[in-house]
Amino acid sequence: MKNKVDTSSDDGQCPPAILVWDLPTRLFHWLLVALLTASFVTAKSGGNAMQYHEWSGIMILALLVFRTIWGFVGSQPSRFRDFVKGPTAVWRYAIALVKGNAARYLGHNPLGGWSVLAMLLVLLLQACLGLFANDDIVTEGPLYLWVSKRTSDWLTGIHKLNQYVIMVLAAVHLLAVLYYFFVKHENLLKPMITGIKHWTGNDTAPAITPIWLAAAFAVVSGCVVYLLVY
Ligand code: HEM
Ligand code: HEM
Repeated sequence: MKNKVDTSSDDGQCPPAILVWDLPTRLFHWLLVALLTASFVTAKSGGNAMQYHEWSGIMILALLVFRTIWGFVGSQPSRFRDFVKGPTAVWRYAIALVKGNAARYLGHNPLGGWSVLAMLLVLLLQACLGLFANDDIVTEGPLYLWVSKRTSDWLTGIHKLNQYVIMVLAAVHLLAVLYYFFVKHENLLKPMITGIKHWTGNDTAPAITPIWLAAAFAVVSGCVVYLLVY
């Protein structure tokens, strides 16, 4: 389905509004932020909070399964094909960024695209590792019995190390958002809340996938993860 460009504000004052981030992508993002915060707080609290840690981690896994599907069937700017570019494009963009003449992108820029992919993969790894983890007290991931205690301890070790990779990527992500705001005077946050970008470029409005498809795939993702862990 093609998205309409709202030209009502195209009066020479404000560029046309284009829907870039569909509702499923925005919901995914802000639920991920909330659940990730919950995962860190509960893991660091330990004790009874570990039960909630497992739940939040499993919900993150379901979110990531959904986002992976959405990366293939979702609205154009949310598709991997749209934002995962080859090394030449990334290199050119990085050079242009340093020189201060980087082009604006309607969706993720070539550098941001890879950082998004890296975050998704590292979080997916973390959630999968958690399923096999144990804390040597009472908490055991739902797939703990699939492996030996030794293997579980090893996977738990990687789960603990990977938290720092997540922290670094999240920090770089936030710094990038701040950099674009203060240095390049581009507010990336607002579109991630409203979905809308005011756009002067020549791009046509991206194709938006119907919301019912997102609802259907959200149910499928939830069922897949439920069947895996219970
Ligand atoms: C992306 C989601 C997840 C994140 C960000 C996350 C993060 C963390 C963090 C930060 C720790 C504490 C490490 C430390 O003591 O410094 C931890 C421990 C742990 N996590 Fe997760 N986790 C996630 C998913 C899961 C899942 C899905 C499960 C199981 C269902 C799980 C099970 C555990 C267990 C059992 C520990 C205790 C390890 C220990 O204390 O030895 N985690 N996790
Ligand atoms: C710390 C946890 C966070 C993680 C793991 C995270 C992860 C992500 C991911 C995966 C995307 C890509 C969205 C998609 O295409 O599905 C994204 C985009 C974005 N995030 Fe976050 N995010 C986090 C926190 C935040 C916070 C706190 C803000 C607000 C300051 C923020 C602002 C944005 C913006 C503006 C974009 C769009 C960037 C663009 O226009 O290319 N994120 N984030």
